[in-house]
Parts: sequence; C-alpha cells; structure tokens
Amino acid sequence: MCGIVGYTGHDKAKDIIIDGLKKLEYRGYDSAGVALMEDGGIQVRKKAGGSGTGGIANLEKAVAKEKFRATTGIGHTRWATHGQPSDVNSHPHASYDGEIAIVHNGIIENYRELKDQLEKKYGIEFVSDTDSEVIAQLIRVLYDGDLEHAVRKAVKKMEGAYTFAAIAKGEPEKIVAYRKDTPLIAGIGKDCNFIASDMTALLQYIDDFYLIDNGEMVVETPDRIKILDPAGKEVTREPLKVTWNQEDAEKGGYSHFMLKEIHEQPKAVQETVSRRIGKDGKIVLDGIKLTLKDLKKFNKICIVACGTAYHAGLVGKYVIEQMARIPVEVDVASEFRYRDPFVDDKTLFIAISQSGETLDTLMSLREAKGKGARILSIVNVVGSSVARESDDVFYTWAGPEIAVASTKAYTTQLVCLYLLALYMADLKGTITREYYDEILSELKAMPARAKRVLKKADKIEEMAKLLYNRDQIFYIGRGIDSSLAYEGSLKLKEISYINSFAIAAGELKHGTIALMEPDTTVIALATQDRLFDKMYANVEEIKARHAHIVSIAKSGNKKIKKVSDDVITIPKCRDEVTPILSIIPLQLFAYYIARERGENIDKPRNLAKSVTVE
Ligand code: AGP
Repeated sequence: MCGIVGYTGHDKAKDIIIDGLKKLEYRGYDSAGVALMEDGGIQVRKKAGGSGTGGIANLEKAVAKEKFRATTGIGHTRWATHGQPSDVNSHPHASYDGEIAIVHNGIIENYRELKDQLEKKYGIEFVSDTDSEVIAQLIRVLYDGDLEHAVRKAVKKMEGAYTFAAIAKGEPEKIVAYRKDTPLIAGIGKDCNFIASDMTALLQYIDDFYLIDNGEMVVETPDRIKILDPAGKEVTREPLKVTWNQEDAEKGGYSHFMLKEIHEQPKAVQETVSRRIGKDGKIVLDGIKLTLKDLKKFNKICIVACGTAYHAGLVGKYVIEQMARIPVEVDVASEFRYRDPFVDDKTLFIAISQSGETLDTLMSLREAKGKGARILSIVNVVGSSVARESDDVFYTWAGPEIAVASTKAYTTQLVCLYLLALYMADLKGTITREYYDEILSELKAMPARAKRVLKKADKIEEMAKLLYNRDQIFYIGRGIDSSLAYEGSLKLKEISYINSFAIAAGELKHGTIALMEPDTTVIALATQDRLFDKMYANVEEIKARHAHIVSIAKSGNKKIKKVSDDVITIPKCRDEVTPILSIIPLQLFAYYIARERGENIDKPRNLAKSVTVE
C-alpha cells in the first residue's frame, strides 16, 4: 500500500505535497518522490529511504535547497511490491520523454504484457523494475494533447487494483486521477484542489471532500473538480464534511501513535457504542436492515479477516454463538478465498477490516458474494473498498489509526461484534430483555472502565522494564480469554520482535508445557469466573515449573496472586465483555517492552498498516 497526494493551486506545491505525504507515511515509507510542473516542464525528485530514515525524510533533504515555484504537482510515499525500494523504483515515474509523470497505489497485474508491447511496438526503454512505470509510458503513447483522453484509453488496457494520478507537460495546471480498488479522495480547497489516498493527508487544508468511486476519474484544475463515471459522463454529488481534525492526525503529545491510540480507546469505544443506542435505549445498527426473516434464513455466519481483525472475529464467534445461537466459522482471509468454502445465500458473511483495503479480505468478500452470501462488514475507514462492496457496513468509529500495530480498531471491532450479537439475539428472542439490558449497560460502562485500566500504565511499564530482554513469552487463557491470548501475543511479536506463542490453557498439558522451564515468561488471562478454577489449575501446573507468571484478572481476585509473580486487574464486569478491558494491559505491555528494546514502534520492520497485496 502506498500514499499519493496531488495539489493544483496558486501556492508553492512542493511543501504542501511533502507535508501531505508525511501524514500518509503509515501507508508505506520505503521511498518517496514529487513531480512538479516547473518552467514549462516536469521536475521529478525521488528518494529511497535508508537505514532508519524513511523515504520522505531523504526526499525532503534532497530538495531542501531547491527553490521550485511550481503550483501544481503530485507526490508519493511507497510500500514496495514490484521492484525493491530504490531511487529509480520510487515514484513518480515519468514517460521516456518526460512529457507525462504519474504516481500509483496498487498493482498492475498485466504489466509484463503491456511492457513487452511498449518495448516492441514503440522501442521504449524502461528505467525501473516497477509495474507502475508502465502507466506513464502507456499514457504517453496514447497522449494526443488531452490527458483525460489518454488516461481513459490507458485504463482500458490495465488490469489489477490501482489508483493513480497523472500530470502532463502540455497541461500545466491539470491533474487527472483514476480509481480502481484502492482508495482515492478529491479535496476541495480555497482556490485550489487536492487528490489524496485518504483525508489524513489534507486535514489542515480542506473542510470538504469527495469520495471517488471505483472506475471514476477526477480531473482537477485550481478552480474546478470534475468527476467522471466509468462511461466518461460527469457526475455531481454532495461533498462530505471532514470529521477528523488535524490533532487526530498528529501524535497529540504522545511519544508514539500506538500509545496515543491505546489511550484513545475510551473515546473510540464511547463513539462506537453511543451512536448505536436509539431513543428507546435499544441498539440501532445505522441502516443495516437485518430482519428476523433474514436471521431465520441464515444457517451460519462466516467471519473472515486478517491479523488483529481476525482475532476480533475469534471473540465475535463466542459472543454471537452464545447470545444469538447462530453457528459461526472464523477464517483467515488468505485461506478462506482458496478453500472453496461452503457459502451460499443462507450465509451471513462478516468481513472485519480496519483499513478496508486488505486485499485478502476484499477478495474473500468477493468470493462469498459470488456464492450468494449477504455481506456485512465491520470497517474503520469510511468509503474504503471493503465498505463499498458490502451490502451492509458497520463502521467502527475509532478515528484514524496511524500506528501499524492495531489497537483501538480492535477494541471497537469487539464493540461492534457485541452490538451485532445483542441485536440479532434480541431479534431472535434467544436472550431475555434483562440480559440484553445488562450487556448493553456493561458496554456503556466500558469507556470509564477502560480509563481506569489505562491508569495502570505505569505499573505495566515497570513490569516491562523487568521482562523486556526475555526471548520468548507465552500467552494462555480459557474460553473467551483464549481468543484474547492470540491478540496479546501478536501485539508483542509485531513491535518487539520477541518470539511469542498463544495457546488455550487447557491445551498446555498436551505438549506445549514441555517448553516450561524456570523463568519462562507466561501471561495468564484469568478473567472468566465461570472457568476460573480450571484456569487456576493450569497456572498452578506451570508455576510448578518455576515459570514467571503475569496474570490478568478481575479486581478483588485474591486467589490468583498465590500463583502469579505479578497481577494486573481489570474492573469487575460480566465474563462476556472482559476482552474490551483485558486487551489494554496486553497492548501496553507490548508497547513498553518494545520501547525498552528501543524498537521503531509505529513503523515495525517488515510490516505495513494495510496489506493490499497477496
Ligand atoms: C495488526 O496490528 C496488524 N497491523 C495487522 O495484523 C492487521 O490487523 C491486518 O493486516 C488486517 O488489517 P485490516 O484490519 O486493515 O484489514
């Protein structure tokens, strides 16, 4: 996944574009570049990142002394897919004669065929190893002085998921952008206009923006935004209001976006719950028309996602099956889409995704749709591909999540799954109104309770100072806690690079307990009253092997202290809803461990915020 930005107006474009790219760095940061309309030509400057510095930092250094007067330009920050990070593989890519320049987010799947044709038929020599350069060369050979026309012809020949923006030497104030399967917005400025992969890049410049649909083209000049549908017909639509402020995009005084986002969870949960409580105190699922007739038709629910979102699905299975009594299968998307799953029009398919752009999840959604399933998605990014291609969208109002390690998106995904389970159970009558009201009041109490858990951050930081140099850490739990163990373990792995393993506590004695030796570190989730005695016995078994045990338990639980070296408590609440609280100490633990180890927390190695490739 990459980030693209474009500006056409009357101010100097270079700094505005580079500033926008900085806000999109979470989308990819291995290299960056700008193409500026300068003195009747196009000036391209691009730089790869190096050890510890991202591409944008190197780009900024490289152009710092250059006094560009350009008022139109495009820019790009990259997450390499085709062609390893290097200056020449960075974007923008220019045509062989410098007449055209483009920035691209996505993958041109038939780029090899197009490249062969362009090399054979036009003798073009490609300079990079990327798929994207094909776009610049293809538009050039189709260019007859009208960029819009050339782009229209070019996209007919391109296959894959892509969004790109192009400029042409002969049309100095014009930016033409095209969207297919990766995100694009058009930002409305004062006497200027913008394009960007998402609004995070433009928050300080715009109040209103257009979401661009799949197959749509945007043609921008300083005084006009023209949106064309796939047939080339101009479409008019109401601009959307920016709901996020600049602060949201900045770190708000925290040392890392991840820590900021962990501390934003009370607000995110509040937002996600409160918008769904109707005047009658009952749940409203913002326009999702799930009727009892629908529910009676569904013989199963398939929850499909990747990484942290998949882990939210594991908790979803517990609460939906327990409350609504509908069988739930949970699948990782990269497996689901290739196993020819049993899915048909009696299946409710739930896709969970923070970015809404994760390709495996999107393709699984299409697979299920093709088989007749009803598609409901739980998504954080408004207008993202997964949201657009779903029959129903249930947004998590977590706000922008910048850190690669997902935290507040996970917690709000859990909240959406609880609300959905309660809503379906109430429709089906599988729970009493008392139970419904009780769980709902538990959810409404979560923001305040989450604040109390966050107050334990200092204690967790002290714990991390003792444990940060461990080379492996285990996570165990029973019932709904066993699902949480997977997410706790992933958080630690992805930002601290400590090898970590999650397992259902009852499974230990069937093999994994062989790994327990003096000082092995184990995080034991023991929040389930119903299963506490079983869990206590499991912790006792590993304590007998002198493991170092940190337990997460409900406040007032004195017994767990007997077998734990450290205990982090969460406020008392019903077993079903503990994951919303007990995930917080696990996130903080992973964060402080990684900080003690001096790791790059917001941009962990080898990871990107959303994976738009297979
Ligand atoms: C989680 O911290 C990771 N960033 C990753 O596992 C992520 O959850 C996964 O790639 C799914 O992303 P999505 O929610 O945007 O679809």
